Amino acid sequence: MTVTTDVKRAVAALASGHLCAIPTETVYGLAANALDQSAVARVFQAKGRPVDHPLIVHVANLEQVSRWITHLPDWAQNLVAELWPGPLTLVGYRTKLATDAITGGQETVAVRIPSHPIAQQVLSELAAQGILGLVAPSANRFGHVSPTSANHVAIDLGEYLGAHGDLILDGGDCEVGLESTIVLATNEQPVILRLGAITAQDIVRITGIAVSEEVENLPRVSGALDSHYAPRAKVILLTDLLQAFSENSGLLALAEFATPAGVHRLAAPNSVTDYAHDLYTALRAGDDLNLGTIYVVPPLGAGLAQAITDRLERAAF
Ligand code: TXA
Ligand code: MG
Repeated sequence: MTVTTDVKRAVAALASGHLCAIPTETVYGLAANALDQSAVARVFQAKGRPVDHPLIVHVANLEQVSRWITHLPDWAQNLVAELWPGPLTLVGYRTKLATDAITGGQETVAVRIPSHPIAQQVLSELAAQGILGLVAPSANRFGHVSPTSANHVAIDLGEYLGAHGDLILDGGDCEVGLESTIVLATNEQPVILRLGAITAQDIVRITGIAVSEEVENLPRVSGALDSHYAPRAKVILLTDLLQAFSENSGLLALAEFATPAGVHRLAAPNSVTDYAHDLYTALRAGDDLNLGTIYVVPPLGAGLAQAITDRLERAAF
């Protein structure tokens, strides 16, 4: 059986070079010992991910962060103090532990301390064995919707993981439902590389520095590809429900929008927070129903609503 709730078994599997999908507060990650070259290589293979797309290193604590990133500017230290553990990833200059396989050959490495208690437990127990971090991209096939439950992981990767004796650690549904906010922390100003639950407003409030919109030579972020986070169904974004709905279609919108006749309601979240939580499950449900089209009314506003809209635009591209 590939799926387990046994944390000790997951830790033993990771320590012996196996892959293990783990729950985090954002989405499930496909984890491997970051120091084990062949395990890291298998992460790319399992996902069908191009090898030049860098991975995030997940660590248990700040001492471990310093093993991967050489130094962080003061403003980034403020983010660390307030937001870690949590859904924030920082990209900093790498130490020599961060190999080209992890960074895609770049001089920077992405690191985060997840807050999910099970992820924390896995990372701490591995740290006690001298394993200084886990790479963990979202545990989906490359380009597909990120998984927010163990079942989503099993659907995307179960066959590969089962065939290789790898595991899925089931920790229930992910709380946030959207991938971490990624911030480039190599300059005097923060640059947001991927929107998430930590918003630009949070970053400005905590650092007291304006967030830079653009820098030259931005590092590669696969989640920033125009088409990403996509279900099989065609995704069409709407601002209201006046449009005619095609046959065999579904709707994702806040609860205040009624369901048109003959349309499958995929989710009716009551708040923007619930919208993020339900988003990927709804898109996957559309594929389970073999829908041709998923109509979506994105949430309005800044912050998390903007992060959701960003993902929806890429799903619709
Ligand atoms: O919430 C998350 O971040 C989840 C959970 C599992 O932690 N992980 C995740 O990983 O979303 P992944 O691999 O699906 O997305 C990581 C993103 C990619 O878009 C990658 O390009 C970017 O992080 N990234 C990694 N290292 C980078 C670097 N050195 N510079 C710029 N971007 C980097
Ligand atoms: Mg991903």
